[in-house]
Amino acid sequence: MPSRPDDPGLYFETHVFVCVNERPEGHPRGCCKAKGAEALRDYMKSKSKGLGLSKLRINQAGCLDRCELGPTMVIYPEGIWYSVKTEADVDEVLETHLKNGGRVERLMLPPELTPAKAAKLKAGG
Ligand code: FES
Repeated sequence: MPSRPDDPGLYFETHVFVCVNERPEGHPRGCCKAKGAEALRDYMKSKSKGLGLSKLRINQAGCLDRCELGPTMVIYPEGIWYSVKTEADVDEVLETHLKNGGRVERLMLPPELTPAKAAKLKAGG
């Protein structure tokens, strides 16, 4: 839903939600925590402080419902999703997207890539 002209200004210009959800071992959907999401969140928070982005907030989130593609994160207000697996991936999102306003296309999760499609691709279908 777009903002309205009479809405107040933004408190934060950008929010990053990083899924750190945990599921029991062996769960068919897996979870972002088991794929290292907590360490990546901590790394992102720490590295972001040096970028001077005062209106940026990085928050941990519960399950974002794209578990098979994790670790996942979503950036608002753009609504851009990423699958970020390494510290180098985090660095690229920080530098390219959050600092310079670009997009890291190789890590982006398009809306049409649903969990069901991801599972099918993983199974070779
Ligand atoms: S566990 Fe991270 S998206 Fe579901």
